[in-house]
Amino acid sequence: MSDFTSDFWHLYVAGLTLVSIIACALLLWISGKAKVKAHQDNTTGHVWDEDLRELNNPLPKWWVYLFVITVVFALAYGLLYPMFGRYAGVLGWSSQGQHTAEVQRQQAAIAPLYAEFRGQPPEKLAGDAKAMAIGERLFMNNCAQCHGSDARGSKGFPNLTDSDWLHGGDPATITKTITEGRQAMMPPMAAAVGSAEDVRNLAHYVLSLSGSPHDALRASQGQAKFAACAACHGANGKGNTAIGAPNLTDDIWLHGWGEEAVVRAVTKGISNHMPAQNQLLTADQIHVLTAYVWGLSNRPAQ
Ligand code: HEC
Ligand code: HEC
Repeated sequence: MSDFTSDFWHLYVAGLTLVSIIACALLLWISGKAKVKAHQDNTTGHVWDEDLRELNNPLPKWWVYLFVITVVFALAYGLLYPMFGRYAGVLGWSSQGQHTAEVQRQQAAIAPLYAEFRGQPPEKLAGDAKAMAIGERLFMNNCAQCHGSDARGSKGFPNLTDSDWLHGGDPATITKTITEGRQAMMPPMAAAVGSAEDVRNLAHYVLSLSGSPHDALRASQGQAKFAACAACHGANGKGNTAIGAPNLTDDIWLHGWGEEAVVRAVTKGISNHMPAQNQLLTADQIHVLTAYVWGLSNRPAQ
């Protein structure tokens, strides 16, 4: 009901529900009172298919009581639970509240498991077999669907086992990435670069930065255009972890390799999203995951 800003729909729903229940009760009461005039043979006088007659017996009492019980039940239910529009009910129950309580109970139950890891620096925790077994399970359940079960990623989803980092591979940055998520944004840049030929030449210059196969003539013609990219990727193309702009001089391509992929990046731009995990995971779990991810590309401290 929080989607509605006026009281109208609250009153409409509450009113309609209450009126319906009262109408049911009234119908029950009136039909209980009304007596159909019976003929001598205790039929209503209706005849179908020549000889099919309707007897005029009252409803059995237990049957009537069932109707009464449903009306009483509905009123009691509506008083206790949120049934009448925005009215919260005497018990104050909500599905959201029940979910939160269950999550809290679950988190309280697992907290002791993590107690021994809490104070340890991730570099050391990465060498703890028990913590890493938990870390691996957490990774399989929460991260593998995007980063792959071997954490090597795929197109658009970074490889977490190499030492190439978009945002930084120190434990504090990894924790921040997992906790808050990341939104990568490269705007379409073709207008800043020039004609389609200019974009192609620039693409060959970008490929030359990593020593990838390229056309040297085009690369030299495209070099000057890289000025448009330097603000994010750096004058030498080595990237900037502060804004998540990748290093273009290594041979690691998150969004595909070759002229076509670079031209696509420049003309269409890139938007990439890693969702925040702090709603799903506790700080303790993120601490263990940080050690696990850090340990994928580093040797744990003794
Ligand atoms: C819905 C898909 C998705 C899930 C689930 C997901 N990630 Fe990511 N993750 C991404 C994407 C996409 C990026 C790249 C963001 C960017 O381009 O800046 C990323 C980036 C990262 C990075 C930064 C890599 C770098 O080079 O700086 C880390 C670390 C990371 N994820 C860890 C995790 C962990 C740990 C989990 C599980 C708790 C997880 N991710 C769950 C999609 C996901
Ligand atoms: C506003 C900052 C910004 C500017 C300007 C910018 N980029 Fe990017 N670029 C990014 C970010 C951020 C990503 C990473 C997207 C991701 O994490 O998925 C990226 C990704 C790329 C990639 C994909 C790299 C890979 O590993 O697959 C290429 C290629 C690229 N940029 C080329 C360029 C070129 C060429 C220019 C200049 C015309 C340019 N960029 C200008 C921010 C920028």
